[in-house]
Amino acid sequence: MKQIHKQSSAMQQQIPTHGPNFPAKAAKQHAIRSSLPRSAASYLLREQRLLFVLVGAVIASSFFLLHSYYHPPIPSPTLPLFHRSAVGGDLSTITYVQAAGSRGGGMRRVPVGLRKPPLRIVVTGGAGFVGSHLVDKLIARGDSVIVIDNFFTGRKENLVHLFGNPRFELIRHDVIEPILLEVDQIYHLACPASPVHYKHNPIKTIKTNVMGTLNMLGLAKRIGARFLLTSTSEVYGDPLEHPQKETYWGHVNPIGVRSCYDEGKRTAETLAMDYHRGADVEVRIARIFNTYGPRMCIDDGRVVSNFVAQALRRQPMTVYGDGKQTRSFQYVSDLVDGLVTLMESEHIGPFNLGNPGEFTMLELAEVVKEIVDPTATIEFKPNTADDPHMRKPDITKAKESLNWEPKVPLREGLPLMVKDFRTRILDEHK
Ligand SMILES: NC(=O)c1ccc[n+]([C@@H]2O[C@H](COP(=O)([O-])OP(=O)(O)OC[C@H]3O[C@@H](n4cnc5c(N)ncnc54)[C@H](O)[C@@H]3O)[C@@H](O)[C@H]2O)c1
Repeated sequence: MKQIHKQSSAMQQQIPTHGPNFPAKAAKQHAIRSSLPRSAASYLLREQRLLFVLVGAVIASSFFLLHSYYHPPIPSPTLPLFHRSAVGGDLSTITYVQAAGSRGGGMRRVPVGLRKPPLRIVVTGGAGFVGSHLVDKLIARGDSVIVIDNFFTGRKENLVHLFGNPRFELIRHDVIEPILLEVDQIYHLACPASPVHYKHNPIKTIKTNVMGTLNMLGLAKRIGARFLLTSTSEVYGDPLEHPQKETYWGHVNPIGVRSCYDEGKRTAETLAMDYHRGADVEVRIARIFNTYGPRMCIDDGRVVSNFVAQALRRQPMTVYGDGKQTRSFQYVSDLVDGLVTLMESEHIGPFNLGNPGEFTMLELAEVVKEIVDPTATIEFKPNTADDPHMRKPDITKAKESLNWEPKVPLREGLPLMVKDFRTRILDEHK
């Protein structure tokens, strides 16, 4: 103890021996510190060094800015958890990263004056007729596309040319089940569109329209994506107003055989508007009128595909009723242009997207005869239930707000569809 005490007292004694030097050192260090900014400033100002530093900073920041623009992060549209728990999983437990891309409602920073960055887009029903053409357009413009389809009426053949493209993904999935993805925009097309298909399993059709739309709107809400619904002219039912404007509320049988589709789409529109008003989801609604073109299902019972397939197979063309009911026919590329224009616009809709050129069924049969086979014959059959007597879009709203109108007349579009059908019908016999 004595020793320890001695040591500590020795230490205590040492401190004062350094004491006299301490203030001088501290003062020196203080002087160095306070002169640092001044000497650094004079160093920078000397021989234009400041200029070099500023130029270096500008070069470095433009490098990072341009690098992130030209090399956007490789899209990871599916969340890492997707395969484990996304499909039908508990949605509430997964944390989402805000989707990038200003066009989808997200917050990607875009250098002024440079082109818009590529988007990550989901197309439900993308293996179908309209969906596959839409996917082609989006891929061609540089976006990354994920198709979700259960292949009820869609075909892989419609998309096979995109297999192997790193910006394209195809997921076999039924939209009745939830799914987790991270995207900027959702085009919701999944739904059988022809009467033959949607009447085949009406309960499934209305489930697809209601539960499928709810699931995709829920996804849009969670990830802040913009959502476009492909509704239909069928929401006008057997219309009492002609041509039909978007303000017309329709004349629909709620308990008929077509209600699973007509009322299903009306409910889908209601859901879209409720998610918009109640949850701030950016929605777009397109009311599509009869559309035709390559890749339509050959035997889907829709009038254009029916007539063309029958004429090519040298069978009589079936006209239901007296053939005086009217329809308007839009070529698929016009529709796809309209859908993309609507998605990119600041308008919610609904917008009629169709070709106002109006034809009776008998007139259409004459055009098909002209193009496919002048010797083709017509066979009359009783009309189906709830078949609308006339259908013609008023597209004033789309013309004025979207600057969109169809460009392809029936006599130009039909030969393109006939060419595709001829190849596929010939393939059937190989
Ligand atoms: N083509 C037209 O004339 C027309 C007219 C009005 C509205 N529309 C609408 O446009 C959309 C596309 O129509 P289309 O003509 O391409 O029809 P389509 O039948 O060729 O395509 C529909 C696609 O949705 C898929 N699908 C159906 N149910 C699904 C489900 N539960 N889960 C996942 N995928 C499912 C099908 O497999 C198919 O690929 C539909 O919503 C339709 O109601 C089309």
